[in-house]
Amino acid sequence: MKAIICFFSGTGNTKKVVDEYKKYLDSKSIETTLVNIDGLPELNLDGVDYVGFAYPIHAFNAPSIVLSFAKQIKKQEKKINYFILKTSGEPLAINNISSCKLKSILKKRNFALTNEYHYVMPYNMIFRHTDNMAYKMWEAAKQVIPIDCEEILARKPAKLSYIPFGRFMAWILRIEHWYGKINGKKYKVSEDCIKCKACVLKCPVKNISIDEDGNFHFGKNCLMCMRCSFHCPKNAINIALFEGWKVNGAYSFKQPEKEEVDKHKRYCKNSYKKYFARCQRKIENNKK
Ligand SMILES: Cc1cc2nc3c(=O)[nH]c(=O)nc-3n(C[C@H](O)[C@H](O)[C@H](O)COP(=O)(O)O)c2cc1C
Repeated sequence: MKAIICFFSGTGNTKKVVDEYKKYLDSKSIETTLVNIDGLPELNLDGVDYVGFAYPIHAFNAPSIVLSFAKQIKKQEKKINYFILKTSGEPLAINNISSCKLKSILKKRNFALTNEYHYVMPYNMIFRHTDNMAYKMWEAAKQVIPIDCEEILARKPAKLSYIPFGRFMAWILRIEHWYGKINGKKYKVSEDCIKCKACVLKCPVKNISIDEDGNFHFGKNCLMCMRCSFHCPKNAINIALFEGWKVNGAYSFKQPEKEEVDKHKRYCKNSYKKYFARCQRKIENNKK
């Protein structure tokens, strides 16, 4: 049996989740291919039994590159069942609406959504979660992913519920796709830059260039994925209007040795509590 998961990951969280899916599915003798959609590759589904799409939630939507990728997929002759995996920094139910547009694009191409899963992973924008919170999120995801994989393999449907007027709200919030491009042109590089060109090389849409004089140029195709500023080793990229929300540097996902000060411990407190309780219930129920 074969599986394919097409994914976009700005800063690595979604990649971490799909890697875990691959690890589990491969262990069950499902030959799993991960397709990174940077560069919008063509999708070949010949002989594939399970199809998935994975993305980070951006302003309660799928990133624009995910929608562009879906739009270029040809209409399938026979119905293709598929699953969606999404990651986001907070567990609010409004995040569920993020798949509305992707679903409708894929429906026109004869795809039917059967399973949908949402994993809370640390913010790559807005604020930096504590290392302990990032560790907790990843531990929860790692335990739940095998259970979700088994549901997919058993073709047992699992869907997320949408809030009222969700489709309309998602439509309004897709302004982020448009504004991200405007904002992305205003990025600046500070004197701390060591010209390692990591940003130029990593940008999924090749939106960053450096000229002979060493000046950086930001084009009009920014996805606001934060890959450039998140991975900048010198934290030298200023992300214009969203500079105050910038998060720089990868999370270790390890349990910290020292106690940390959590400046945001009240933020969406109940929502995180419910999310972790839901994961725990799922793990316990699975043991029965
Ligand atoms: C432009 C942008 C918008 C975001 N919007 C949301 C959001 O609406 N809800 C949320 O919970 N997290 C949001 N996040 C956080 C990411 O969804 C989250 O950190 C995700 O796991 C990042 O995955 P990645 O590393 O694969 O890119 C946003 C991040 C960015 C960069």
